[in-house]
Amino acid sequence: MSYKIAVIPGDGTGPEVVAEGLKVLEVAASRTGFTVELTNYDLGGERYMRTGETLPDSVIEEFRQHDAIFLGAVGHPDVPPGVLEQGVLLKARFALDQYINLRPVRLIPGVETPIKNKGHKEIDYAIIRENSGGMYTGMGGNSRPGTKDEVAIQEMVYTYDQVARCLRYAFEYARKYGKKARGVGENNTLALIGKSNVLTHMYKLWNRVFAEIGDQDYPDIKREYYHVDATCLYMVASPEMFDVLVVENMFGDIITDLGAITQGGLGVAAGGNLNPEGVSMFEPIGGSAPMWTGKNAINPLAAIGAVQMMLDHLGETEAASLIEKGIAHAVSKMKSMAANEMGMGTDAVGDLVADFVARG
Ligand code: IPM
Ligand code: MN
Repeated sequence: MSYKIAVIPGDGTGPEVVAEGLKVLEVAASRTGFTVELTNYDLGGERYMRTGETLPDSVIEEFRQHDAIFLGAVGHPDVPPGVLEQGVLLKARFALDQYINLRPVRLIPGVETPIKNKGHKEIDYAIIRENSGGMYTGMGGNSRPGTKDEVAIQEMVYTYDQVARCLRYAFEYARKYGKKARGVGENNTLALIGKSNVLTHMYKLWNRVFAEIGDQDYPDIKREYYHVDATCLYMVASPEMFDVLVVENMFGDIITDLGAITQGGLGVAAGGNLNPEGVSMFEPIGGSAPMWTGKNAINPLAAIGAVQMMLDHLGETEAASLIEKGIAHAVSKMKSMAANEMGMGTDAVGDLVADFVARG
């Protein structure tokens, strides 16, 4: 097999972590017998300041000709906040209809969690964030802006189809990767996260579709429902109760940052923006970390984890599992997952994983 991968190193520490991800990707490819054809895309703050462009439509069209996209980070201290986030990241998600944001919350053995008395057996679940709707649609507006009569409206918007396709993906995921499927629990459980006690219109729809699809096509999946505020509490106090969570876009944005810190922080948390029928984009969840740029101090494991997810998604499961083991090996040699506290450089962490993948 040969895969065409679009690479967006992006801003700040993005290029440094992407380099380590690609180093591991090349080794995994030659070790397990596939090839990759990489196309580099110069997108991000520098390009914006040079040309005023964020993500041209012609590039979106080129992305469609690829098997996957690997993104480092966007966000530049000299560009107003929101320009690159919306112009590159959100534009790619929307234009390619990457309607799932898959963010596993798995504590790698050996990684420290800030939660007392919890380890990798307890912190072992996945969050499926709806990635195309909700408050991210940009619907709303401001009337009489700049006056004391200003009214601001930002709507939470979902269609039946958006909810249904997200829930279907989540049910399928629970069937394939739930705790029973992985041999670590009695059930495959899907929990819908919402706020049905306040957002009554919205959760009338989500709850109905959840029950309908579940009853009809996924009677083998155990269903649960939790309010999003209570979910935050449980993610800290008893994360072992979770298996697969499915959540609307904005709530998902918030709780996946909480999930990331419980799994060891932004240095290790990876995610995938998925269009199961199209082109998906994989990224470390952390941002561009400008203060660590060019210092060989940033943790590349999240980016390497994104490569692992990308290969899993492409069906290269042997390569993905080698990388997973390589990451665990690197963790056993590192002092910390925090930038500048790893006890070694960014490149040395990449070497540890790559060497393991080459030999392991
Ligand atoms: C994320 C980020 C983005 C989001 C921002 C940068 C637009 O926080 O990927 O979680 O809100 O989705
Ligand atoms: Mn976020």
